[in-house]
Amino acid sequence: MSLNSDPAFWAPANKHLTRYGPSFEAIIAERAEGSFVYDADGRGILDFTSGQMSAVLGHTHPDIVATVDRQMRSVAHLFSGMLSRPVVTLAERLAALAPGLERVQLLTTGAESNEAAIRMAKLVTGGHEVVAFAQSWHGMTGAAASATYSAGRRGYGPAAAGSFVIPAPNSYRPRFKHADGSNDWQAELDDAFELIDRQSTGNLAAFIAEPILSSGGILELPLGYLAALKRKCEERGMLLILDEAQTGVGRTGHMFAFQRDGMTPDILTLSKTLGAGLPLAAVMTTEAIEQKAFERGFLFYTTHVSDPLTAAVGVTVLDVVARDGLVARARERGDRLKQGLLTLQQKYDCVGDVRGRGLLLGLEIVTDRQSKAPGFELGAQIMDEAMRRGLSMNIVKLPGMGGVFRIAPPLTVSDAEIDQGLAIMSDAIEAASRVQ
Ligand SMILES: Cc1ncc(COP(=O)(O)O)c(C=O)c1O
Repeated sequence: MSLNSDPAFWAPANKHLTRYGPSFEAIIAERAEGSFVYDADGRGILDFTSGQMSAVLGHTHPDIVATVDRQMRSVAHLFSGMLSRPVVTLAERLAALAPGLERVQLLTTGAESNEAAIRMAKLVTGGHEVVAFAQSWHGMTGAAASATYSAGRRGYGPAAAGSFVIPAPNSYRPRFKHADGSNDWQAELDDAFELIDRQSTGNLAAFIAEPILSSGGILELPLGYLAALKRKCEERGMLLILDEAQTGVGRTGHMFAFQRDGMTPDILTLSKTLGAGLPLAAVMTTEAIEQKAFERGFLFYTTHVSDPLTAAVGVTVLDVVARDGLVARARERGDRLKQGLLTLQQKYDCVGDVRGRGLLLGLEIVTDRQSKAPGFELGAQIMDEAMRRGLSMNIVKLPGMGGVFRIAPPLTVSDAEIDQGLAIMSDAIEAASRVQ
C-alpha cells in the first residue's frame, strides 16, 4: 500500500480541515527540494507550478534557508513603526530595479498588496471606482476580491460599489478582429472604455491589471496594450495598478513584465515570487503619488508590515536572481519549454494553443481545433495522468475557454527537468486521449 494513503493522516485531515477550494491532491507532501516535491513514498514529483506560482528559486534553496536561519536568530518581527536594515535595503534594491517607482511598502500577501494599492489610489484620486479584467485574480480580501472576476463572485454579498470590468484581450479567441482575422485589441479596448465611461459616476480611481492574466488562462497583454491602457487611465485621471504577483522577479524573462512594454505603472504590486515561497509583498509607487497619499493621511498599518525576516528573504531572492542570471535563464529555459509545447501542439490535435512568455506558459486543451470547443474533461484527465507519472501542473477552467494548463517551473529548473516534464506531458496527453 502506498504510504500516501496513511489513514492516520487522512482521517483527521478529512475531519478537521476546512475545504477552501478545489479538492486536495491525494498525496502527502513530506518535503521538497529544487524542482521536486517528495511524497510519502519518497517519489519525486516535478513541480511545474512552483508551489503556488511562487517558488522561483525552487524549494528549500540553500541561500534562503541560510537567510531565514540567520535573520531568525537576529530579529524576525518588530513593532510596525520600527525599522530594520533588511527593510531599507530591500526598498532601495527594488527602487533601483524599477526606475520611477522609488517608494516601497513591504507587506505580506498578494491580496494585501492590492488592498494597499487600491486604497492609495482612492485616497490620491478622490475616486472610488475600480476597473479590472473579466478574467482577473487579485486576491480573496475585500477590494482585491471585488476586482477578481475569474472565480468566487457568487454567494458573498455585494462587491464594492463602483466595481467595473472589461474583457482581457485574447489572441486565440479574439472578440474584435482585423481583416486578416488577428486580434484587434485596440478596437476592443476603445469599445470597453466607452462602456466604462457610460457606467462611471465620475469617480474613477484605478485600473488594476496583470500583465499576463494567469488564473485567467495565461492571457498575455499584447505589446502596446499596457501603454494604451495607461493612456486611457491618464485621460480619466485614474491610476494604473499593475499586479505582478506572478510575473514579477524575472519569471517572464524581464525583471518585471511591464519592462518589455517600455512603460511604467503608477503603482506596482509584487508578492508570490518576491518571497520565493515565503509571505512577502511590496507596493511600489512614484514619489509624487506617495507624497500626496502621505499628505492625505495614508493609513495601511498591518501586523507584518516591514517585518525584517521576510524582507531579508526578499534581499536574498534578488541577490540570487542577479548572481545566477535567472532573468536571462527564464528566457532561455522558457524558449526550450515553449518549443517543446509547440511540438506537442503539432503532435496532438487537442492542444489548441500555446502562449505566454519566459517561464509562464499556457497550453489550452480543446476537443476540436476548428471550433475550439473547450476540453475541460480531457484537460482534467491529462492533469491526473501527468500527476500519476510524476508531474504536477495546474489547470484553469473558465467559461468560454478550454482547459488551460499553467506551466511555471522554478527559474532554477534545469534543461533535463524541462525535457522530463515535456516527456511526461506527452505520455499523459497520449494516455488521456486513448481513454476519451
Ligand atoms: C495575480 C495575482 N494577484 C494576487 C493574488 C493573490 O495573492 P495572495 O493569494 O497571496 O493573496 C494572486 C494569487 O493567486 C494572483 O495570481
